Amino acid sequence: MDVLTAIRTRRSHKLFTGQPVDRALLQELLELATWAPNHHYSEPWRFSVVGSAQLAAMADAVDQQLGPQPAGRSQAAKIRAILAGAAAAIAVRQVLNPADAVREREDYAACCCAMQNIQLGAWAHGLGSYWTTSPAMIGEKLHAFWQVQPGEQLVGAIILGEPAIQMPAIRHKPLSELATWL
Ligand SMILES: Cc1cc2nc3c(=O)[nH]c(=O)nc-3n(C[C@H](O)[C@H](O)[C@H](O)COP(=O)(O)O)c2cc1C
Repeated sequence: MDVLTAIRTRRSHKLFTGQPVDRALLQELLELATWAPNHHYSEPWRFSVVGSAQLAAMADAVDQQLGPQPAGRSQAAKIRAILAGAAAAIAVRQVLNPADAVREREDYAACCCAMQNIQLGAWAHGLGSYWTTSPAMIGEKLHAFWQVQPGEQLVGAIILGEPAIQMPAIRHKPLSELATWL
């Protein structure tokens, strides 16, 4: 798949078939992530990779994060069902630079570019994925699970797997509303 097609046809997927994914493919997605633009070659990204064998442990960590209240139980059950079908999850951690606010902002942006590379690379291999910043998936109580190190923050996680259904493209705003030609 060429890059233009990958950009235009990638959609967020949350329903997966349960088909596993080779470690080599996950390795390639990480490598693609590291080609993302990053100012001063700061390479601020770190990756926590969860293969299929660890997805149940991730669901347990989500359980802990969401707590015993009914709303939490219901969200945890939904996430457990998603993870049961998924093949892997990758969290992107940013190395922080508190002394330099500009650099920290740039590094966050670079980590987001790395996440997009992972999603596009996955899609080019026929894998669906979605990006999550939900506290349910990356909240404080999951930091130990993701092995967040001191001086890092979790930027987000990508859940991926073979898509069980095709997702429709939804875009609302016409380009004429979005672009100002100077
Ligand atoms: C920074 C960021 C955070 C997101 N967080 C979530 C999330 O927590 N849960 C979720 O279901 N989707 C999340 N998404 C995915 C968006 O909801 C999704 O990209 C959007 O609906 C557009 O759909 P598409 O990806 O199919 O084009 C996030 C996307 C971004 C860029």
